[in-house]
Amino acid sequence: MTKTKVLVTGGTGYIGAHTVVELENAGYEAVIVDNFSNSSRDVLDGIARIIGRNPLFFEADCADYESFARVFELCPDISAAIHFAAYKAVGESVEKPLDYYRNNLVSLLNLIDLMGRNERGSIVFSSSCTVYGQPERENLPVNETSPLQPATSPYGNTKRVSEEILRDCTISYKGKINVIALRYFNPIGAHPSALIGELPRGVPQNLLPYITQTAAGLRERLNVFGNDYNTPDGSCIRDYIYVCDLAKAHVSALDRLLDKSPEIPGGIEYYNLGTGVGISVLQMLELFKKATGVAVPYRIVERRPGDVEQVWADPSKANIELGWKADTPIEEVLASAWRWEKKIRGI
Ligand code: UFG
Repeated sequence: MTKTKVLVTGGTGYIGAHTVVELENAGYEAVIVDNFSNSSRDVLDGIARIIGRNPLFFEADCADYESFARVFELCPDISAAIHFAAYKAVGESVEKPLDYYRNNLVSLLNLIDLMGRNERGSIVFSSSCTVYGQPERENLPVNETSPLQPATSPYGNTKRVSEEILRDCTISYKGKINVIALRYFNPIGAHPSALIGELPRGVPQNLLPYITQTAAGLRERLNVFGNDYNTPDGSCIRDYIYVCDLAKAHVSALDRLLDKSPEIPGGIEYYNLGTGVGISVLQMLELFKKATGVAVPYRIVERRPGDVEQVWADPSKANIELGWKADTPIEEVLASAWRWEKKIRGI
């Protein structure tokens, strides 16, 4: 039987690669498009070793219409797309806003154009909980009806504007474009095989890779950004979700889009992807020690400008409508992150 082909832009990135694996496990055929702007060619080998064959891959920049369009010519039977390809560093986006708007928005416009043109209108979009900013306390945990806040960085704004572009297009091209926007909380961990995982360039900006690199001896200690927040232990709270659980949600979203029975109201749906549990930075260090036996040295430093104090998800809409739940225990997730770090450092 021919498998349903799913375009995966940014399919060698952190979440993209894990999603390719889950798509293949679920019987879809992933068509990866990437230009390796923030990933490595080796990821394709990691994926191949997990799924047992080389994935379909095209090297192209989604922001370059001609080269992106070529993928559709070479692969005319693409049925749906999952769009990850985007820049994602908050701080860098403040330094280079034009790069962020150009890359993230032009790629999306090209994708909608090419998918709509070919009457292949099912798109799963990689969005972020950043669209909620710092929710009011009475709105925690945040659900999808919580008010959206003005973005605090150009990166965050590209997610907000992308959701709006997609909404407008589903209205204008009614029936031709159907979208599910997945609002990720904080993805962490690596595939249990330790063949794929997160590969931050330079000094990690995110908490977990910084913790694992410190545990591996690459960094002296973790800087905990603030212990004077209005939270039980004073450090910031996030909803950390296992990347493999997150990847599986994309398969569920795709199943829903491709299954004709549920009409997507207004052509677009939004889902929070989180665990529903908030964990503070200091709690994370304790959990990491429990899961791996490694005590990570740390010191408390100034707050990081622009940090949200606390946010975690109400994932019940995704639990009910997508039939999906993030249920991997945190110890297992942290052990996978550590296994991956040790593997890439040869420890
Ligand atoms: N943190 C530290 N020390 C570090 C790194 C992080 O204490 O070295 C703390 C942060 O202050 C924050 C928590 O760990 O409290 C999580 O920080 P991350 O940078 O890992 O994640 P953020 O929640 O700040 O950012 C993530 C994504 C962004 C996205 C944002 C949406 O990285 O892309 O969620 O809220 F925009």
